[in-house]
Amino acid sequence: MKLDVAGIRRQFPILSAVIDGQPVHYLDNGASAQTPDAVLDAVRTYETTGRANVLRGVHRLAERATEAYEKAREEVAAFLGVMPMEVVFTGGCTAAINLVAYSHGSLLKSGDRIILSELEHHSNIVPWQLLRARSGIEIDVIPVTLDGRIDLEILPRLLTARTRLISLAHVSNVTGALLDVRAVVAAAKTVGARVMLDGAQYAPHGPVDVPGLGVDFYVFAGHKAYGPNGIGVLWARPELLEAMPPFHGGGSMIGRVTFAETTWAPPPRRFEAGTPPIGPAIGLGAACAWMRRLDWPGVHAHEMALVQRLMDGLQEIDGTHILGPASLQNRYPVVSFMLDGVHPHDVAQTLDSFGVAVRAGHHCAQPLMDRFDLDGTTRVSMAPYNDNSDIDALLTGVKHAARTLR
Ligand code: ALA
Repeated sequence: MKLDVAGIRRQFPILSAVIDGQPVHYLDNGASAQTPDAVLDAVRTYETTGRANVLRGVHRLAERATEAYEKAREEVAAFLGVMPMEVVFTGGCTAAINLVAYSHGSLLKSGDRIILSELEHHSNIVPWQLLRARSGIEIDVIPVTLDGRIDLEILPRLLTARTRLISLAHVSNVTGALLDVRAVVAAAKTVGARVMLDGAQYAPHGPVDVPGLGVDFYVFAGHKAYGPNGIGVLWARPELLEAMPPFHGGGSMIGRVTFAETTWAPPPRRFEAGTPPIGPAIGLGAACAWMRRLDWPGVHAHEMALVQRLMDGLQEIDGTHILGPASLQNRYPVVSFMLDGVHPHDVAQTLDSFGVAVRAGHHCAQPLMDRFDLDGTTRVSMAPYNDNSDIDALLTGVKHAARTLR
């Protein structure tokens, strides 16, 4: 059965809005996706019928809030195919990576090595540089191929007996390249290294089979996966979480506190100090439940058809170049391009005048821009609710930019 894109669109109120007299052609999903009614309703229900703190009170609102918060953890766990107690709510994907870099990182020793790639988002680079400054670990970097993929042929040469962790983007937020996780996990096993995936750009495109991937840590962001802002997820193997010391101290993450000594709560609470982002967590639970109800084979076929339409259309415009895989194989619906002689910011501003939202610039991936000697790109990032009218509006805008700005 054909995917009911119009039916999906109707669930996102903003997509039928007219903003400053313009329709909304939202193609900046890689930065932040839109939110369906199911998520808005779940947050509103919490705020209006069950707002209270969690894991503390005995009154009924506190109990309702705690129940909804833990139910959200169950929804996220089902989305990842893991156990709820292995799911840690964080302030975002960046916060989740920082948690691992700080806490798991504190178990690494001077001279231990970790491997990143040239296409990582800054949030999967800088926390490790901070760890390097604290503890003297070494960072090795896998280069990127000409078509914007992590060059896994180089990986075996970087592995050493001191390699402890390989942390990579599951899907590039710039090129849309999908990582060959199986190859990474197999290589990591040869030296006993752990594997962490930054799933920020993968999770919005369907449930993640974490056990099937065979990785050790998985992180993603709520707001890119149709959930609220201010919420993210860390999943880790339970034995790794158990061995990790706290990142933040405060309420809820303790066993017993005295001035002489404090003991820690077991995971996941050990890593959720203070009042957590309760409404956002509940919203993310609803987003995961919403995603699990979608026809993902249908969505993937639809998203790839949009990518093809976009790439074909761009190729017809003189002076455009795509940074990333040219075919649909092992790629996700994130497409970066350059237009000769026009700065990406000017392209994006022209597109905005057509009601088309994209991101332009370095996409928090400056080492990747350096690799290709670019200031930046214009990035089109799609979601299940995008349709041909969004792509066609974008192509009209790019043609206009090519005609008027050169
Ligand atoms: N990480 C987000 C992006 O790539 C903000 O746009």
